[in-house]
Amino acid sequence: MNYSDLEESIKARRTVYPISFSGNKAPKSIIEKMLELANWAPTHLRTEPWRFKVFSDLGLVSLLDECKDQYVKNVPAQKFNITKLDRFEKHKSSVSHIVAIVVKISGKVPEFEEMAATAMAVQNMWLYLSNTNRYGGYWSTPQYLMNEDFNKCLNLNRDEKFLGLFYVGELKDNAKLTKGNRSNWREKVEFIKTS
Ligand SMILES: Cc1cc2nc3c(=O)[nH]c(=O)nc-3n(C[C@H](O)[C@H](O)[C@H](O)COP(=O)(O)O)c2cc1C
Repeated sequence: MNYSDLEESIKARRTVYPISFSGNKAPKSIIEKMLELANWAPTHLRTEPWRFKVFSDLGLVSLLDECKDQYVKNVPAQKFNITKLDRFEKHKSSVSHIVAIVVKISGKVPEFEEMAATAMAVQNMWLYLSNTNRYGGYWSTPQYLMNEDFNKCLNLNRDEKFLGLFYVGELKDNAKLTKGNRSNWREKVEFIKTS
């Protein structure tokens, strides 16, 4: 890969929401390659803290049913939106796989380092999917899933933390992706030169 391919890959990666998924399943080879590449993220002391639980088929249906229950239980009445509940039903037929993103806290390095490493693993997955030109992903972190009850459904150990769901699917032929947009990088950077 040359530099311009890398630049293009980074800038072309987009969040692909399930509304843009065709409903076709991603083959096992795609899912396995995605997870293999996730495993190449950098990691302090090689703790390799990322853990993934991959839901498909009936597993995906049960997970989405659980998400619905959590939504009903945890979203306050004034924020409750019935179309969100319907969305989970639609996801059952549009999404190929859902990956629960988990970090296993080793205690050997500060916790933020293991969260950072796990996020880099997710970026690897996302870039890979984008590069297939056929599959895409979306990282979802709803507050109503961030609780002990949902952790139990995911069978998390005490040293594991849930960092969200990564939805994977095949893009529809006419999928319109959100427009990539970032404010000027220079506004976020300070160059410090002291003699
Ligand atoms: C850690 C993380 C959590 C996210 N959680 C959500 C979410 O809960 N809901 C959502 O709509 N998008 C979520 N996103 C996706 C962002 O909305 C998306 O990355 C952003 O709009 C930029 O679009 P792009 O990914 O196409 O560049 C999340 C992204 C990251 C990195």
